[in-house]
Amino acid sequence: MHKNEISEKGQDELSRAHFLRPTRREFLGATALSVGALATGFSTISSLAQHGGGTVTRNLLNIPPVYYPSIGVASAPATVNLGGGKMSSVLAYNGFFPGPTFRANRGDSASVQLTNALTEETTIHWHGMIVPTSADGHPMDAVAPGGTYLYQYPIVQRACMNWYHPHPHMLTGEQVNLGLAGAFIINDAEEAALGLPSGPFEVPLVIRDAMLDRYGNLIYKPKTGGFEGDISLVNGTLNPKLEVQATLYRFRVLNGANARLFKLALNNGTQFTLIGNDGGLLRTVSRVGQIEFCPAERLDLLVDFTGLSVGTKVMLQDLNSGWNLLEFVVVGTASSGGVVPSVLPAIETLVGPTMPTRTFSFDGMSKINGKVYDMNRIDFEVPFGQVERWRFITKGNGPHPVHVHGASFQVKSRSGGRGTLFPWESGWKDTVLVQDFETVDVLIRFDGYRGIYLLHCHKLEHEDMGMMSNFRVI
Ligand code: C2O
Ligand code: CU
Repeated sequence: MHKNEISEKGQDELSRAHFLRPTRREFLGATALSVGALATGFSTISSLAQHGGGTVTRNLLNIPPVYYPSIGVASAPATVNLGGGKMSSVLAYNGFFPGPTFRANRGDSASVQLTNALTEETTIHWHGMIVPTSADGHPMDAVAPGGTYLYQYPIVQRACMNWYHPHPHMLTGEQVNLGLAGAFIINDAEEAALGLPSGPFEVPLVIRDAMLDRYGNLIYKPKTGGFEGDISLVNGTLNPKLEVQATLYRFRVLNGANARLFKLALNNGTQFTLIGNDGGLLRTVSRVGQIEFCPAERLDLLVDFTGLSVGTKVMLQDLNSGWNLLEFVVVGTASSGGVVPSVLPAIETLVGPTMPTRTFSFDGMSKINGKVYDMNRIDFEVPFGQVERWRFITKGNGPHPVHVHGASFQVKSRSGGRGTLFPWESGWKDTVLVQDFETVDVLIRFDGYRGIYLLHCHKLEHEDMGMMSNFRVI
């Protein structure tokens, strides 16, 4: 038993939670049946129905409930409505897919008790949060089925949108793909002073791909090159639309896919006003027409619908797949009162070595520096409080979204491959895209906690196959 595991009292509290709980056996039974059906020639719910021409019935975008992070959360099988009214089997936090959006202020403390109502081990990793090792959801702290775990940590970083998802050894891809993920928004005074759109005008968008069986249940069919779904979901909604006012909006966007890159654009040629990424607000506001981002990256985007007449439709598209991700429909002319900031708060610029302190080669689909992950092996030690230059390289099998736990970093350079840095890669990051033959340098400083953390590929199939490494901050 880990010292953070607690039992009876917390479980009683959680048993009052009103999540749906079909048995795992029923869920897996249905999944197995439909995989069988697939093998005999039935097709999955056609991506044509979603993405092809013709009339698509659009469903109102789901907005997950907002929770303050002092609550019990149960991961369990659930059935949810993806939009058409039909119920689909997924995995969910407290019955919600995606999970509730946590929202708290810098300086608050999180205290979230997980109850594992799955039939396999799980954890919650707080992606992007600087937390002690005991609260990091590391695979070594896996929670057995029926078990509980209390994640407690102070919220120390500046305003940004992080997220949470399971991180159990070799099961992350499956659990995230079947639905376990949610957003975690941190606010602070510095950001509040900017007058950005808020309330109903600040909308989280968790974008991912998915695969459904013929009954409409989420199914996970991993490939070594990365899961490839044939439909997209935004906030768990199929063919979503969002009714908007003709005013300025703020979208908090997460690429919640296992492996897919999305290249976002608006079909009416409107540019995005880019103000933030993984680690919060950027140094400067910029306007960009297209943004390609990888799994686990976040974007903070302002979109101005001002001047569009009621009835106007604008489509958020993925230029990589040609998919229509989300339709905005102008239904009124109320104002959000939000503004596009002209100046963003200053960010410290890390200063460090010009030669790499360490180089990490993402080899094949399962190795870093030639080694497959071993949960009980510590691969290197990093001194607390010192700026290091980490170099990420790969010869192939990209994209590799490289993610580090325990600290944010600043991307300094990219050579080979795309050979440039993009506006959404400035400021603070915790995930950076490394494409084939690219060399990406970052400066990083661990000044949160000493302890064991992870470096890994966030293509979840690569992660599960072992493209992950333990290190210790000393
Ligand atoms: Cu989003 Cu180590 O994970
Ligand atoms: Cu990878």
